[in-house]
Amino acid sequence: MDVEKIRSQIPVLEHTAYLNTGWSGPPPRRVAEAMKHRIDEELEKGPIMAEVLEAGREIQAQAREAAAQVFNATVDEVLVTRNTTEGINIVLSGLDWQQGDEIVICDMEHGSVIAPSQLVGQRYGVNVKVADITATDSSEAILTKIEAAITPKTRMVFVSHILYATGRRMPAEELRALTKGNGILLMLDGAQTGGHIELDMARSGFDFYSIPGQKWLLGYEGSGALFIKREHLERVHPAHTGGRGIARPVDAHNFQPVADTMEKFLGGSVSVPVQAAFLEATKFIEEVGIGNIEQRNLDLAESAKAKLSEIPGVTVTSPLERRDSSGLVSFAVDGQDPVSVVERLWANHRLVVRQVGYPAATRASIHFFNTEEEIDLLVGGVRELV
Ligand SMILES: Cc1ncc(COP(=O)(O)O)c(C=O)c1O
Repeated sequence: MDVEKIRSQIPVLEHTAYLNTGWSGPPPRRVAEAMKHRIDEELEKGPIMAEVLEAGREIQAQAREAAAQVFNATVDEVLVTRNTTEGINIVLSGLDWQQGDEIVICDMEHGSVIAPSQLVGQRYGVNVKVADITATDSSEAILTKIEAAITPKTRMVFVSHILYATGRRMPAEELRALTKGNGILLMLDGAQTGGHIELDMARSGFDFYSIPGQKWLLGYEGSGALFIKREHLERVHPAHTGGRGIARPVDAHNFQPVADTMEKFLGGSVSVPVQAAFLEATKFIEEVGIGNIEQRNLDLAESAKAKLSEIPGVTVTSPLERRDSSGLVSFAVDGQDPVSVVERLWANHRLVVRQVGYPAATRASIHFFNTEEEIDLLVGGVRELV
């Protein structure tokens, strides 16, 4: 991997130690240019001229194919969305919940897992069972806790594949085995995985999976992708729909929905410039290779965790085992508020990280374009604060 060449394509890295991809990745120049190109087309030729419309359709089709490649799924199982949360909501609000059904989540979840499940719970009388896990739990302990929350009424287990606060990689394959054996649906929030670790829907057999474009794929906000296993397409109703959800010709007296394909979730218009950026971003990432990215991120994260752990008063809250790890490295500094750690690392070193709440910590996101020098800058900056 030619890291210097990659870095030269990401302008923000010239002046900033960017360790916050888990919030939003820094866009490569060619990704911004793909978006600008589309904006210029619409600006100069007009947004609905035949030629521009046709090019726009092509961008959307290619963006969908690119998303299918990231998932290793077939195109008909994939939809380009506006973000991770939209994909989650398409599934959660589209399933036919029955009073008394149960969903299992865990307590260290992001709001985009908690809110959609709890609201489904309130609306349909579904019981949301929360498995309480800790940052130091092993995969076996997590599986035991989730299994203990499962009952004959459980219809879905819904967790993040990588937890946003600690960067823990959840034992998703084992969860698949556990849920499948019990006829339970498995939904994964992949906000921290798409473009970060290799995904393989065909092999892993997950039921539903949602990713963003703006984080590890280095696209722009307003893009994401959803995977629904083909056999479940019929059971997910289009809870919000519109003109693109009606079969042609449109007849108000004789409504015919579009066929049971992912297109049924397309309500109205979408942002083609943002999809153009999503498409270019996935090409950029695929050229480097997500498998290579995953290994480099793990190597850098391992080094960061080892060096941070040596500082007295610093506790790494991310897992140390490689198989449980990711490029997210969280740490707490004794007696120091994470917000202030974030602010001072920026003020002292132009280093961008963020604070997370549960457990309270400072989180560095390490992606393939980051370097050992930036890890040392982080470690040195934290040592100074201590
Ligand atoms: C685990 C997790 N889920 C969901 C989200 C929300 O992502 P999006 O803005 O793509 O909906 C985030 C973003 O930080 C996240 O970390």
